[in-house]
Amino acid sequence: MDTRSIGFMDSGVGGLTVMREAQKEIPNENMIYFGDELRLPYGEKTIEEIQKYSIQISKFFLKHNIKLMVIACNTATARSLEMLKKELPIPVIGVIEPGSKLAVSSTKDKRIGVIATNSTIKSGSYEKNINKIDNAVEVFSLGCPEFVTMVESENYSGYENQSKVNTILAPMMGNKIDTLVLGCTHFPIMKNLIQNALGSKVLLVDPGIAVSKSIKNVLYANDIQNNSNNVGMTSFFTTGNASSFKRIAEDWLNYKVEVANVSIKEL
Ligand code: SIN
Repeated sequence: MDTRSIGFMDSGVGGLTVMREAQKEIPNENMIYFGDELRLPYGEKTIEEIQKYSIQISKFFLKHNIKLMVIACNTATARSLEMLKKELPIPVIGVIEPGSKLAVSSTKDKRIGVIATNSTIKSGSYEKNINKIDNAVEVFSLGCPEFVTMVESENYSGYENQSKVNTILAPMMGNKIDTLVLGCTHFPIMKNLIQNALGSKVLLVDPGIAVSKSIKNVLYANDIQNNSNNVGMTSFFTTGNASSFKRIAEDWLNYKVEVANVSIKEL
């Protein structure tokens, strides 16, 4: 029985899409969520900056005595997963490998689209992971950094945002993909707009669903699962605006949350 928390990090609210899936899979676990909103978008930062932020957040988590760290951010996974795995005394899970496996098992035509931040696309991480599993799969990648800003500024639904999403996704049309990876954890929050733009024949893959299974496996493999029958506690921290974080979090998670502000100087 291990009641320590699981830490989820993201540049903003996107990692909530991963944590929500984890809360369905392992509701009895205690969790800490950290959104680094003051420094987003990570997708436009240098590799060195992303690694520095990831290390700072992991130290914040270690002070809170976490037992497992989830990098609930594709950009930080692409740029910092290997480093954090080496540096931290606890298991670390990223989102790209589980997401790639889910995408390969979902495609019938072996044509997968990936939308993500520019940094994730540039890293080639999805392409490498997908082709490691099946090198016959064709991968079509598109950077959509605007979607991160749309989600963080609460423009993630509504008819008025649809034409902007259609325009951004236009280069993906014509690739004859049957599966699209939402390769940024912010994107499932605007899933409806993305699905409308691509049409109902394209299957959207949310890596968060696959990640929640990986978290459970790692907890049991290391014998660090919480065996309590009670629903776990969750704490929320942001370096940005706690009120807008709270609004988006409550809308997405569908329960009331308290959000604490963390100053970058404390990290
Ligand atoms: C970003 O901050 O640019 C988005 C993070 C992600 O890739 O999930």
